[in-house]
Amino acid sequence: MQSWRITPAKRVRGVWRPPGDKSITHRAVILGLLARGTTEIEGFLEADDCLRTLQIAQQLGAQAERVGEARWRITGVGGTLLHEPSDVLDAGNSGTTARLMAGVLASQPIFSVLTGDASLRRRPMRRIVEPLRQMGAQIDGRADATRLPLSIRGDALRGIRYLTPVASAQVKSCLLLAGLNAQGITEITEPVLSRDHTERMLQAFGVELETRLSTAGAHCVRLRGGQVPEAQGVRVPGDFSSAAFWIVAALLLPGSDLVIERVGVNPTRTGLLQALAQAGVHLEWSAIDEQAGEPVATLRVRPQPVGAMRIGGALVPSLIDEVPILALLATQAEGETEIRDAAELRVKESDRIEAIATELRKMGAAIEPLPDGLRIRGATPLHGAHVRSYGDHRIAMTLAIAGLIAHTGETLVEDVECVQTSFPEFEQLLHTLVER
Ligand code: S3P
Repeated sequence: MQSWRITPAKRVRGVWRPPGDKSITHRAVILGLLARGTTEIEGFLEADDCLRTLQIAQQLGAQAERVGEARWRITGVGGTLLHEPSDVLDAGNSGTTARLMAGVLASQPIFSVLTGDASLRRRPMRRIVEPLRQMGAQIDGRADATRLPLSIRGDALRGIRYLTPVASAQVKSCLLLAGLNAQGITEITEPVLSRDHTERMLQAFGVELETRLSTAGAHCVRLRGGQVPEAQGVRVPGDFSSAAFWIVAALLLPGSDLVIERVGVNPTRTGLLQALAQAGVHLEWSAIDEQAGEPVATLRVRPQPVGAMRIGGALVPSLIDEVPILALLATQAEGETEIRDAAELRVKESDRIEAIATELRKMGAAIEPLPDGLRIRGATPLHGAHVRSYGDHRIAMTLAIAGLIAHTGETLVEDVECVQTSFPEFEQLLHTLVER
């Protein structure tokens, strides 16, 4: 098992372009697989999760070629049938791969078996199995088809109207991808808008869809089946969720000055910026532009005093992946921060509520787990400790940043291989962006 030894840092400085967005890379590969023609992806996140999606796309008939650093060319099946895979499809640690691919597989007359690593095999799948069955797919699996492995016998599906019980972009995207090849209209309503990269990318690939806000404030997306995406050039924006670790480091380390170039600032992803505004922190923005139907910007981060935050409700889906690093920030904020309505954190790559509370406490934080969130009292100086990641990339990276901002002592973060799933460059940045 690999580990990192982290000593307190003076500051972070530099101009840095984050790696490609994970969510958007997955979607570019999947639409590349389904599209007519050759899709060229620039800024491809070459991390384990996205490479799993790519491998499955190849097992289903896509032709993929690496044509440069973070550049891939994918030729899709374009309206013809996917290949029936001759082996099990392994999504590794990636929930997005498993759930989005399940929608693709269910909508084609092929048989497939989908599995993942030990963490992914513990994560809930009923949320996609139920609506896909309603659309006409035959799905079986472990624990009454609520856990991977799942066997999927796809078919000619029919569109449904579906109200998602949880605001989950993975569920919404699974059903949109299934609906793309179903008869009639698929309509998905979610109580709170989750990340909308699938909607944006489908439109960029020429698929017609409608989105609207209901009078009750619910978000609705409608799609007519039988549309074939047209291949595109996709320039993937930088991953805001990866940038978030370094935003927090630069805010907390005196003397820091970090410029983060061309990072995606889709409002369904940047709830952290709203949380920061509540804490009295405002980042400088410039060079606002659009790429792959997504807004991008350059951000400049310098240290600022941080106040307490109250996080809940509609804000939660837009910062769900940032809660571990936000919790670390809250340990350095003046006052009591509460994060609620975030029970979904218990079914991510680890139980992130327990993991972050247990490990940050070892470093001196006053942090308490709640059934649906965390209560954190700040500001408490942190000290180095022996901590572990629970095999969860976002916990590992949060603890590494905690080690940088600790006042004293060395932090040993155990079990850090998992960082390869989303941010292979992270370890190198601990040297290139950090001054000691
Ligand atoms: C993702 C959606 C979110 C997020 C995950 C990526 C996506 O999961 O936490 O890291 O790319 O659609 P849920 O859909 O389970 O909320």
